Amino acid sequence: MRKYLLIFVAVFLSLSGTAQKFDQLAKTPPMGWNSWNKFHCDVSEALIMQAADALVSTGMKDAGYEYIVIDDCWQISRDDNGEIVADKDRFPHGMKYVADYVHSKGLKFGIYSSAGTVTCQRRPGGFGHEYQDARTYASYGVDYLKYDWCGSTTQDAKSSYTNMSSALKAAGRPIVFSICEWGANKPWEWAANVGHLWRTTGDISDNWNSMIDIFNKQKDLSRYAGPGKWNDPDMLEVGNGGMTTDEYRTHFSLWCMLASPLMAGNDLQKMTPETKSVLLNKEMIAIDQDSLGRQATCYRDNGNYQIWVKTLSNNEKAVCLLNTSDEKKSVLVDFSLLATIRGGGRGFGGPMPAAPAGGAPGMPGMPGAPAAGQGVPPAGQGAPAAGQGVPAAGQGMPGGMGPGGPGGQRGFTPMTLENYKIRDIWDHKDLVLKETSMYVELLPHSVKVYRFVRK
Ligand code: GLA
Repeated sequence: MRKYLLIFVAVFLSLSGTAQKFDQLAKTPPMGWNSWNKFHCDVSEALIMQAADALVSTGMKDAGYEYIVIDDCWQISRDDNGEIVADKDRFPHGMKYVADYVHSKGLKFGIYSSAGTVTCQRRPGGFGHEYQDARTYASYGVDYLKYDWCGSTTQDAKSSYTNMSSALKAAGRPIVFSICEWGANKPWEWAANVGHLWRTTGDISDNWNSMIDIFNKQKDLSRYAGPGKWNDPDMLEVGNGGMTTDEYRTHFSLWCMLASPLMAGNDLQKMTPETKSVLLNKEMIAIDQDSLGRQATCYRDNGNYQIWVKTLSNNEKAVCLLNTSDEKKSVLVDFSLLATIRGGGRGFGGPMPAAPAGGAPGMPGMPGAPAAGQGVPPAGQGAPAAGQGVPAAGQGMPGGMGPGGPGGQRGFTPMTLENYKIRDIWDHKDLVLKETSMYVELLPHSVKVYRFVRK
């Protein structure tokens, strides 16, 4: 009998997916700086220490950026005991020295390896050395490990990352575990108990098409994100020179709407005022870091004009209007309607549920269905094909609240313009509305982000 009981307990534990990871970490999306996007393999002790200095002197630390992460190329070989060896030319005092310096600035220290036999730059990977490496990283004082997927050949992703997660746990030092297998094995479906964030897509490049292409692939993933478990659409390119300031503002806004980790990837010692105005927009950062941990959902997708909603704590929300087209758009925005809409909650990531015929009285998260000819239907309900653009002037968005408005959800303050003021996050001003509808100009590749703040 005892034997059967033990077998039952063992099977139950293996099936129930007991948490492997340190589960008190990354309750909001991790913020910091990573060497890869700007410096690639050109990393050194001096560079990392200067980056730590600059994170403090630029005000980035005060804005919430806390991790300094060395990406690929810090390691060069393994010694006779299998210990990972840092490149002595570039890190003459070893990694603990760098970690201590980073910590002395009140920051946290991150490092990089890969689950395969080699990293993406063909440095030694972690395969077969997981427990040994985890102990070594803990002895350096590492706080964050980015673990790549290069050199993995026939390995199983879930078991490989679970193995490293267990190794980190066994080493005893709380370390944020950043899974970087590019979304190839749908980590959002299995990594919540394994790591704290997981890449959802391939590598970002410093241009508009790459950034917006990655953004477009995040649409159905909202339901998987939450405190301690984040979708990671890759690090920021803001300030690296390949996009306009408007495009970088869009990049940053979209990442914040997605509750993405915010890992700056620029040269912190050479930040222009424009770069600072983006990376240091504290009101935008507050939307990313909101304690509720919701990822935005797409409320309307009208091709190159989209509306995204992120539910925030305190029954507030952020709404982002996005123009991905190459032309300027003038859109008639009905703010009383925007006041009523809600982002999808947990368990929601796809299109809005269909409205019953003849309107949607009391449907949670949706205003009443627009009357015929009055604007665009919700995403997923026969939205106009891409390229059709926004409703013509005068036609606008569905006017006002539909019958019954957004009701149906108990315990919420009704969302109306009487209860909320609207903050323009990039103009740094509260909107002064003469009427409930207003034309809003959206430059090419730009966004407007509004926060509905409870009065
Ligand atoms: C992969 C990762 C990148 C970066 C490089 C380093 O491509 O996705 O983010 O870490 O490896 O070689």
